[in-house]
Amino acid sequence: MGLGIYIHIPYCLQRCTYCDFATYVHSEIKPPEFYVEIVKKEIALRHQFFENFKTVPLSTIYFGGGTPSLIPAEHIVNLIAELSKFGYQTGPQTEITIEINPATIDERKLEIYLEAGVNRFSVGAQTFSDRLLKMVHREHNAEQTRQTLALLRKYNLNFSFDLLFALPTQTLAELQNDLSIAVDLGSRHLSPYCLTVPEGHPLSKNRPPENDQIEMFEIIHRRLQENGFYRYEISNYSLPGFESKHNLLYWTDRSYWGLGLSAHSYMKESQLPNSWGTRFWNQNNFDLYTDQIQKPHQSSDLFDFSVSQIEFLKKHQSLTDFCHTSLRLDTGLSITDLTHKFGNQIERVILNLAQPLLDRDILRFNGNAYKLTEKGVLISNQVFEQFTFLGKDIL
Ligand SMILES: C[S@@+](CC[C@H](N)C(=O)[O-])C[C@H]1O[C@@H](n2cnc3c(N)ncnc32)[C@H](O)[C@@H]1O
Ligand code: SF4
Repeated sequence: MGLGIYIHIPYCLQRCTYCDFATYVHSEIKPPEFYVEIVKKEIALRHQFFENFKTVPLSTIYFGGGTPSLIPAEHIVNLIAELSKFGYQTGPQTEITIEINPATIDERKLEIYLEAGVNRFSVGAQTFSDRLLKMVHREHNAEQTRQTLALLRKYNLNFSFDLLFALPTQTLAELQNDLSIAVDLGSRHLSPYCLTVPEGHPLSKNRPPENDQIEMFEIIHRRLQENGFYRYEISNYSLPGFESKHNLLYWTDRSYWGLGLSAHSYMKESQLPNSWGTRFWNQNNFDLYTDQIQKPHQSSDLFDFSVSQIEFLKKHQSLTDFCHTSLRLDTGLSITDLTHKFGNQIERVILNLAQPLLDRDILRFNGNAYKLTEKGVLISNQVFEQFTFLGKDIL
């Protein structure tokens, strides 16, 4: 199976009040020309980390942010070409996604993306209420989202739609309206995100009451199901066949390479005896990241990474990750996959943990996999706690 590559583009039109990602207002950091050169340097420096994957086409490339559609489209082309120069080729099956925000895309940009092989678009619409968009400091308005979606439909493209809900003062009717528009305008994939902000944050006031928030989850689920969508992951819905290959890769124990500011990587193959895979990540501050990549005479050896940017996984960490990511999925935690990776004895450990949850209708078992029930999805964090093995003595 091929590798997945994530490339982080940290430029935004504005900083949205709720956002905690590693992004900047575009005028506050060095320009994209500079940043793209740094990412190219990172590719050159580390391309051999995933050497084994060069023999098959990439599974996915994902340009996320930030707002990748804000920078000139030529940079996106350039980065795909650079990967190819170092042996990471795309093929007809490679899913190439770019996150695009309304008001940052036009027909010329779109054609450049298409020419470069981009075949999936994730639209940061959030809501069609201008009142709410303004409240969270988004620069775009609902009409601009409609224009963006009309453009994507004109080219009959595969696009996904990010929806933010449970915003302060948001009503059930406003959410219903957002869902109607998303479905009517031809989205084949939808990621509904319940607004998450820390206590004391300006957006933590006037949130819909808890009952309404639960009803919002239910409205989303019902409405999307009625329209042929299914929930393939806790917070992702799609029409069958339109699941995000890239996101699935994170949840099915596959290797991925993250490039750019704050990006995380995972190597499934062990790099050390008794290691269960390796995670490494980039700094999440623009200057620290760019300075690090620019340093002269840098080693391109994984073992020279600072301990604060790499982790060789122990068995209990790998098992925890495996359980958490699998339980997020509609396909669930498969005993076949679990024992294949961790040995037959692990089945008993998992059954002991699962039994009380099966009894309380929080999990169900289909003969091979444990899956969250409707009730389980609503309290998934509590379930994940049960399947956390950190520091525990396991087989
Ligand atoms: C990092 S953003 C990138 C996409 C694009 N820049 C945008 O904002 O439309 C990915 C998604 O995360 C979601 N998100 C960001 N901050 C969030 C928060 N505090 N709570 C819930 N969802 C959030 C937003 O819905 C957003 O579409
Ligand atoms: S546009 Fe997206 S990435 Fe940028 S600040 Fe807003 S939510 Fe964050």
